Amino acid sequence: MIQLGVNVDHVATIRQARRTFEPDPVAAASLATLGGADIITVHLREDRRHIQDRDVRLLKGMVFTKLNLEMSIAQEIVDIATDIKPDQVTLVPEKRQEVTTEGGLDVVSYKKILVDVIKRFRDAGIAVSLFIDPEEDQISAAKDVGAHYIELHTGNYALAKEDAVRSKAVEKLQEGVRIARQAGLRINAGHGLTYHNVGCIVKSLEVEELHIGHSIISRAVFVGIEKAVAEMKELISRYSLEKQLAGESVR
Ligand code: PXP
Repeated sequence: MIQLGVNVDHVATIRQARRTFEPDPVAAASLATLGGADIITVHLREDRRHIQDRDVRLLKGMVFTKLNLEMSIAQEIVDIATDIKPDQVTLVPEKRQEVTTEGGLDVVSYKKILVDVIKRFRDAGIAVSLFIDPEEDQISAAKDVGAHYIELHTGNYALAKEDAVRSKAVEKLQEGVRIARQAGLRINAGHGLTYHNVGCIVKSLEVEELHIGHSIISRAVFVGIEKAVAEMKELISRYSLEKQLAGESVR
């Protein structure tokens, strides 16, 4: 069964709008877990625009499922992560001006630094995932630098306005999964996934974890976090079952 990682950064975005104590992303993580989240994800950005160091420390003590920390490879953040020791880190590119992560990490260009950073994480017993575009050279480089997982960037699929462009994006992701599997990497996916577009990803890709944030937290504003997460879990299991049944009827 595909695991659902719920990113609670946007709860912290509301808190930081007033630089106050509410709403607390740590409380959101508890409710997301009650709703069935398998993984809690937060991104500790260098500019601390939403998640704060205190959040990550509290989550480390509280999350009993899996804590996934999204982060850049900035020295300060790497030091914090190796100190707090989340279960998993997902390394992403980070630009100050972006509203969310844009594009995958350029593993090919940062190979040398990544070898050292990933060794630090591996020595600390932390699983390492690299958020990358479904490109063959990036996937091979992810293997070379010692990552356990890749997270395939589903943004091109999510943003596609035309069917032909969307189908091409799905084919590219499927090819990425094939190459990564051959390389012996574990495979996750995420970015831009919603209640409306997650079905095709569940049915088309063999992945372990889906990481979803904005869509779940947006729905949570109206229905509550527990319910919003439970509805996404329900969708993922329904699409997984449909895929399984379709596979059995083909056989
Ligand atoms: N995966 C990664 C690596 C991300 O950076 C993000 C955004 O924080 C997500 C998944 C979730 O994306 P979204 O908020 O669009 O669901």
